[in-house]
Amino acid sequence: MVLTGGTSGIGRIAATELAAQGATVAVIGRDQRRGDTLVADTTPLDGDIRFHQTDLATQTTVRSLATELLNTYDGIDALVHNAGLSSHRRSETGDGVELTFAVNHLAPYLLTHELLDRLRTAAPARVVVTASDIHRRATFNFDDLQFSSDYDPLQAYAQSKLATIAFTLELADRFEDTEITANCFHPGFIPSTNLFRDAPIWIRAMIRAAAIIPGIGTTQQEGAQRLCKLITAPEFGKKTGMYVTGDGITSPSTEATDPENRQRLWEISAGLVDVDPDWP
Ligand SMILES: NC(=O)c1ccc[n+]([C@@H]2O[C@H](COP(=O)([O-])OP(=O)(O)OC[C@H]3O[C@@H](n4cnc5c(N)ncnc54)[C@H](OP(=O)(O)O)[C@@H]3O)[C@@H](O)[C@H]2O)c1
Repeated sequence: MVLTGGTSGIGRIAATELAAQGATVAVIGRDQRRGDTLVADTTPLDGDIRFHQTDLATQTTVRSLATELLNTYDGIDALVHNAGLSSHRRSETGDGVELTFAVNHLAPYLLTHELLDRLRTAAPARVVVTASDIHRRATFNFDDLQFSSDYDPLQAYAQSKLATIAFTLELADRFEDTEITANCFHPGFIPSTNLFRDAPIWIRAMIRAAAIIPGIGTTQQEGAQRLCKLITAPEFGKKTGMYVTGDGITSPSTEATDPENRQRLWEISAGLVDVDPDWP
Protein backbone atom coordinates (compact mmCIF):
# COMPACT_ATOMS: atom_id res chain seq x y z
CA MET A 1 0.00 0.00 0.00
CA VAL A 2 1.00 3.63 -0.45
CA LEU A 3 0.50 6.07 2.43
CA THR A 4 1.35 9.76 2.14
CA GLY A 5 2.17 11.76 5.25
CA GLY A 6 3.48 8.75 7.14
CA THR A 7 6.45 10.48 8.76
CA SER A 8 4.53 12.30 11.47
CA GLY A 9 1.29 12.38 13.46
CA ILE A 10 -1.48 9.91 12.74
CA GLY A 11 0.10 8.72 9.49
CA ARG A 12 3.25 7.58 11.29
CA ILE A 13 1.28 5.56 13.82
CA ALA A 14 -0.97 4.10 11.14
CA ALA A 15 1.98 3.11 8.93
CA THR A 16 3.63 1.34 11.85
CA GLU A 17 0.40 -0.43 12.80
CA LEU A 18 -0.35 -1.54 9.24
CA ALA A 19 3.20 -2.85 8.79
CA ALA A 20 2.90 -4.71 12.09
CA GLN A 21 -0.19 -6.38 10.63
CA GLY A 22 1.91 -7.62 7.73
CA ALA A 23 1.48 -4.94 5.07
CA THR A 24 4.21 -3.54 2.88
CA VAL A 25 3.76 0.21 3.33
CA ALA A 26 5.36 2.71 0.97
CA VAL A 27 5.47 5.86 3.08
CA ILE A 28 5.71 9.25 1.42
CA GLY A 29 7.08 12.33 3.22
CA ARG A 30 9.29 15.29 2.55
CA ASP A 31 11.98 14.73 5.09
CA GLN A 32 14.56 12.00 4.42
CA ARG A 33 15.80 12.03 8.01
CA ARG A 34 12.27 11.52 9.41
CA GLY A 35 11.75 8.76 6.86
CA ASP A 36 14.99 7.02 7.81
CA THR A 37 14.08 7.23 11.50
CA LEU A 38 10.66 5.74 10.80
CA VAL A 39 12.17 2.81 8.92
CA ALA A 40 14.80 2.28 11.67
CA ASP A 41 12.23 2.54 14.48
CA THR A 42 9.77 0.13 12.95
CA THR A 43 11.91 -2.85 12.06
CA PRO A 44 11.77 -5.75 12.46
CA LEU A 45 8.06 -6.09 11.78
CA ASP A 46 5.91 -8.68 10.14
CA GLY A 47 5.48 -6.33 7.21
CA ASP A 48 7.75 -3.71 5.76
CA ILE A 49 7.99 0.09 5.64
CA ARG A 50 9.77 1.65 2.68
CA PHE A 51 10.31 5.38 2.52
CA HIS A 52 9.98 7.44 -0.66
CA GLN A 53 11.08 11.04 -0.18
CA THR A 54 8.83 13.47 -2.08
CA ASP A 55 7.44 16.95 -1.69
CA LEU A 56 3.82 16.66 -2.81
CA ALA A 57 3.57 20.40 -3.41
CA THR A 58 4.57 20.34 -7.06
CA GLN A 59 3.18 18.32 -9.92
CA THR A 60 6.59 17.38 -11.31
CA THR A 61 7.56 15.73 -8.05
CA VAL A 62 4.16 13.99 -7.73
CA ARG A 63 4.63 12.61 -11.25
CA SER A 64 8.21 11.51 -10.47
CA LEU A 65 6.96 9.79 -7.32
CA ALA A 66 4.28 7.99 -9.35
CA THR A 67 6.92 6.78 -11.81
CA GLU A 68 9.08 5.53 -8.92
CA LEU A 69 6.13 3.70 -7.37
CA LEU A 70 5.06 2.20 -10.72
CA ASN A 71 8.62 0.95 -11.24
CA THR A 72 8.80 -0.52 -7.73
CA TYR A 73 5.40 -2.12 -7.04
CA ASP A 74 3.47 -4.47 -9.34
CA GLY A 75 0.18 -3.79 -7.58
CA ILE A 76 -1.09 -1.21 -5.10
CA ASP A 77 -4.02 -2.50 -3.06
CA ALA A 78 -4.47 0.66 -0.98
CA LEU A 79 -3.67 4.30 -1.62
CA VAL A 80 -3.95 6.51 1.45
CA HIS A 81 -3.87 10.27 0.98
CA ASN A 82 -3.06 11.40 4.49
CA ALA A 83 -0.44 14.14 3.95
CA GLY A 84 -1.79 17.54 4.77
CA LEU A 85 -0.79 20.96 5.92
CA SER A 86 -2.20 24.24 7.06
CA SER A 87 -0.22 27.18 5.76
CA HIS A 88 -0.39 30.33 7.84
CA ARG A 89 0.64 32.64 5.02
CA ARG A 90 -0.49 32.36 1.42
CA SER A 91 2.24 31.02 -0.83
CA GLU A 92 2.31 29.45 -4.26
CA THR A 93 4.01 26.28 -5.43
CA GLY A 94 6.33 26.18 -8.43
CA ASP A 95 3.20 25.48 -10.50
CA GLY A 96 1.67 28.76 -9.32
CA VAL A 97 -0.98 27.01 -7.19
CA GLU A 98 -1.87 28.04 -3.63
CA LEU A 99 0.08 25.67 -1.36
CA THR A 100 -2.74 24.32 0.86
CA PHE A 101 -4.95 23.53 -2.12
CA ALA A 102 -1.99 21.98 -3.98
CA VAL A 103 -0.89 19.59 -1.21
CA ASN A 104 -4.24 18.75 0.40
CA HIS A 105 -6.33 18.37 -2.75
CA LEU A 106 -4.44 18.48 -6.06
CA ALA A 107 -1.70 16.02 -5.03
CA PRO A 108 -4.27 13.28 -4.12
CA TYR A 109 -6.15 13.99 -7.35
CA LEU A 110 -3.03 13.70 -9.52
CA LEU A 111 -1.43 10.78 -7.65
CA THR A 112 -4.64 8.75 -7.87
CA HIS A 113 -4.79 9.46 -11.60
CA GLU A 114 -1.18 8.39 -12.10
CA LEU A 115 -1.47 5.17 -10.02
CA LEU A 116 -4.81 4.05 -11.39
CA ASP A 117 -3.46 1.12 -13.38
CA ARG A 118 -1.70 -0.34 -10.33
CA LEU A 119 -4.92 -0.05 -8.30
CA ARG A 120 -6.78 -1.86 -11.06
CA THR A 121 -4.11 -4.58 -11.17
CA ALA A 122 -4.35 -5.14 -7.42
CA ALA A 123 -8.15 -4.87 -7.15
CA PRO A 124 -9.99 -5.33 -4.86
CA ALA A 125 -8.33 -2.09 -3.79
CA ARG A 126 -9.10 0.94 -1.63
CA VAL A 127 -8.48 4.66 -1.80
CA VAL A 128 -8.67 6.37 1.59
CA VAL A 129 -8.48 10.12 2.14
CA THR A 130 -7.89 11.93 5.43
CA ALA A 131 -10.44 14.71 5.46
CA SER A 132 -11.71 16.86 8.33
CA ASP A 133 -14.98 17.92 9.87
CA ILE A 134 -13.74 21.47 9.53
CA HIS A 135 -14.97 21.19 5.94
CA ARG A 136 -18.40 22.18 7.31
CA ARG A 137 -17.11 25.76 7.73
CA ALA A 138 -16.36 26.05 4.01
CA THR A 139 -18.17 26.66 0.76
CA PHE A 140 -16.52 26.46 -2.63
CA ASN A 141 -15.55 29.86 -3.96
CA PHE A 142 -15.20 28.76 -7.57
CA ASP A 143 -14.32 32.31 -8.62
CA ASP A 144 -11.26 32.22 -6.38
CA LEU A 145 -10.57 28.67 -5.21
CA GLN A 146 -6.99 29.58 -4.37
CA PHE A 147 -7.68 32.64 -2.22
CA SER A 148 -5.72 35.02 -4.42
CA SER A 149 -7.46 37.77 -2.47
CA ASP A 150 -8.38 37.75 1.24
CA TYR A 151 -6.35 34.69 2.21
CA ASP A 152 -7.51 33.24 5.52
CA PRO A 153 -5.49 30.20 6.67
CA LEU A 154 -8.38 28.48 8.41
CA GLN A 155 -10.76 29.01 5.48
CA ALA A 156 -8.11 27.86 2.99
CA TYR A 157 -7.58 24.72 5.04
CA ALA A 158 -11.33 24.13 5.48
CA GLN A 159 -11.99 24.53 1.76
CA SER A 160 -9.10 22.17 0.91
CA LYS A 161 -10.69 19.53 3.16
CA LEU A 162 -14.09 20.17 1.57
CA ALA A 163 -12.37 19.52 -1.75
CA THR A 164 -10.89 16.23 -0.51
CA ILE A 165 -14.37 15.00 0.43
CA ALA A 166 -16.00 16.14 -2.82
CA PHE A 167 -13.14 14.43 -4.68
CA THR A 168 -13.58 11.17 -2.74
CA LEU A 169 -17.34 11.03 -3.38
CA GLU A 170 -16.91 11.79 -7.05
CA LEU A 171 -14.15 9.19 -7.34
CA ALA A 172 -16.34 6.58 -5.65
CA ASP A 173 -19.12 7.24 -8.17
CA ARG A 174 -16.68 7.05 -11.05
CA PHE A 175 -15.32 3.76 -9.68
CA GLU A 176 -18.80 2.24 -9.81
CA ASP A 177 -18.65 -1.23 -11.38
CA THR A 178 -15.01 -1.64 -10.36
CA GLU A 179 -13.58 -3.38 -7.32
CA ILE A 180 -12.02 -0.16 -6.03
CA THR A 181 -13.64 1.67 -3.12
CA ALA A 182 -13.02 5.30 -2.14
CA ASN A 183 -13.78 6.53 1.38
CA CYS A 184 -12.72 9.41 3.59
CA PHE A 185 -12.68 10.17 7.29
CA HIS A 186 -12.27 12.78 9.99
CA PRO A 187 -9.55 11.68 12.44
CA GLY A 188 -10.77 13.98 15.22
CA PHE A 189 -9.26 17.21 16.51
CA ILE A 190 -5.75 16.08 17.43
CA PRO A 191 -3.83 18.97 18.98
CA SER A 192 -0.69 16.89 19.59
CA THR A 193 0.36 16.48 15.93
CA ASN A 194 2.59 18.81 13.91
CA LEU A 195 -0.24 20.04 11.68
CA PHE A 196 -0.18 23.58 13.00
CA ARG A 197 3.63 23.91 13.02
CA ASP A 198 3.37 26.92 10.72
CA ALA A 199 0.93 28.88 12.91
CA PRO A 200 2.01 31.87 15.05
CA ILE A 201 3.48 30.95 18.39
CA TRP A 202 0.39 32.01 20.40
CA ILE A 203 -1.87 29.71 18.34
CA ARG A 204 0.61 26.85 18.74
CA ALA A 205 0.72 27.50 22.49
CA MET A 206 -3.09 27.30 22.69
CA ILE A 207 -3.13 24.09 20.65
CA ARG A 208 -0.36 22.57 22.78
CA ALA A 209 -2.31 23.49 25.90
CA ALA A 210 -5.40 21.79 24.44
CA ALA A 211 -3.29 18.67 23.89
CA ILE A 212 -2.74 18.22 27.62
CA ILE A 213 -6.23 19.10 28.85
CA PRO A 214 -8.15 15.87 29.39
CA GLY A 215 -11.34 15.62 27.36
CA ILE A 216 -10.28 18.02 24.60
CA GLY A 217 -9.61 16.46 21.28
CA THR A 218 -8.65 13.00 20.13
CA THR A 219 -5.39 11.13 20.60
CA GLN A 220 -3.10 10.37 17.68
CA GLN A 221 -3.69 6.67 18.33
CA GLU A 222 -7.47 7.08 17.94
CA GLY A 223 -7.05 9.06 14.73
CA ALA A 224 -4.70 6.41 13.37
CA GLN A 225 -7.17 3.67 14.31
CA ARG A 226 -9.85 5.34 12.18
CA LEU A 227 -7.46 5.41 9.24
CA CYS A 228 -6.49 1.75 9.74
CA LYS A 229 -10.15 0.73 9.97
CA LEU A 230 -10.89 2.13 6.52
CA ILE A 231 -7.96 0.12 5.17
CA THR A 232 -8.54 -3.17 6.94
CA ALA A 233 -12.22 -3.52 7.92
CA PRO A 234 -14.01 -5.84 5.46
CA GLU A 235 -17.05 -3.48 5.34
CA PHE A 236 -14.97 -0.74 3.65
CA GLY A 237 -13.94 -3.16 0.94
CA LYS A 238 -17.59 -3.02 -0.10
CA LYS A 239 -18.91 0.34 1.09
CA THR A 240 -17.75 3.25 -1.00
CA GLY A 241 -18.29 7.01 -1.03
CA MET A 242 -18.49 7.08 2.78
CA TYR A 243 -17.43 9.79 5.21
CA VAL A 244 -16.51 8.40 8.62
CA THR A 245 -16.11 10.30 11.90
CA GLY A 246 -15.94 9.22 15.53
CA ASP A 247 -19.69 8.63 15.28
CA GLY A 248 -19.27 6.19 12.40
CA ILE A 249 -20.56 6.76 8.87
CA THR A 250 -21.90 10.32 8.72
CA SER A 251 -23.20 12.70 6.07
CA PRO A 252 -20.71 15.35 5.04
CA SER A 253 -21.97 18.85 4.22
CA THR A 254 -24.33 19.28 1.28
CA GLU A 255 -21.65 21.51 -0.25
CA ALA A 256 -19.46 18.38 -0.49
CA THR A 257 -22.16 16.03 -1.76
CA ASP A 258 -23.61 18.42 -4.36
CA PRO A 259 -23.09 16.72 -7.77
CA GLU A 260 -22.58 20.03 -9.59
CA ASN A 261 -19.87 21.11 -7.16
CA ARG A 262 -18.15 17.74 -7.44
CA GLN A 263 -18.19 17.79 -11.22
CA ARG A 264 -16.97 21.38 -11.37
CA LEU A 265 -14.14 20.72 -8.92
CA TRP A 266 -13.15 17.60 -10.85
CA GLU A 267 -12.87 19.50 -14.12
CA ILE A 268 -11.00 22.44 -12.60
CA SER A 269 -8.57 20.03 -10.91
CA ALA A 270 -7.99 18.18 -14.18
CA GLY A 271 -7.17 21.49 -15.85
CA LEU A 272 -4.79 22.52 -13.09
CA VAL A 273 -2.80 19.25 -13.29
CA ASP A 274 -3.16 18.96 -17.06
CA VAL A 275 -4.98 15.61 -17.39
CA ASP A 276 -8.08 14.61 -19.33
CA PRO A 277 -11.04 15.06 -16.95
CA ASP A 278 -12.69 11.97 -18.38
CA TRP A 279 -11.12 9.53 -15.93
CA PRO A 280 -11.04 6.87 -14.47
N1 LIG B 1 -4.46 17.14 13.70
C1 LIG B 1 -5.75 17.39 13.53
O1 LIG B 1 -6.43 17.94 14.42
C2 LIG B 1 -6.42 16.98 12.25
C3 LIG B 1 -7.81 17.10 12.16
C4 LIG B 1 -8.46 16.74 10.99
C5 LIG B 1 -7.70 16.27 9.92
N2 LIG B 1 -6.35 16.18 10.01
C6 LIG B 1 -5.60 15.69 8.85
O2 LIG B 1 -4.84 14.56 9.23
C7 LIG B 1 -3.75 14.40 8.32
C8 LIG B 1 -2.48 14.10 9.08
O3 LIG B 1 -2.14 15.26 9.83
P1 LIG B 1 -1.51 15.21 11.29
O4 LIG B 1 -2.47 15.91 12.17
O5 LIG B 1 -1.05 13.86 11.61
O6 LIG B 1 -0.30 16.25 11.08
P2 LIG B 1 1.27 16.10 10.91
O7 LIG B 1 1.86 15.49 12.13
O8 LIG B 1 1.74 17.46 10.53
O9 LIG B 1 1.46 15.10 9.68
C9 LIG B 1 1.32 15.58 8.35
C10 LIG B 1 2.06 14.66 7.41
O10 LIG B 1 1.89 15.20 6.08
C11 LIG B 1 3.17 15.30 5.48
N3 LIG B 1 3.25 16.42 4.54
C12 LIG B 1 2.85 17.70 4.74
N4 LIG B 1 3.13 18.44 3.66
C13 LIG B 1 3.71 17.62 2.76
C14 LIG B 1 4.25 17.80 1.47
N5 LIG B 1 4.27 18.99 0.87
N6 LIG B 1 4.77 16.73 0.83
C15 LIG B 1 4.81 15.52 1.43
N7 LIG B 1 4.33 15.28 2.66
C16 LIG B 1 3.80 16.32 3.32
C17 LIG B 1 4.13 15.52 6.63
O11 LIG B 1 5.42 15.15 6.19
P3 LIG B 1 6.76 15.81 6.76
O12 LIG B 1 7.24 14.88 7.82
O13 LIG B 1 7.66 15.83 5.59
O14 LIG B 1 6.41 17.18 7.27
C18 LIG B 1 3.55 14.60 7.68
O15 LIG B 1 4.00 13.28 7.48
C19 LIG B 1 -3.70 15.69 7.48
O16 LIG B 1 -4.30 15.46 6.22
C20 LIG B 1 -4.55 16.65 8.30
O17 LIG B 1 -5.13 17.67 7.49
C21 LIG B 1 -5.68 16.50 11.17
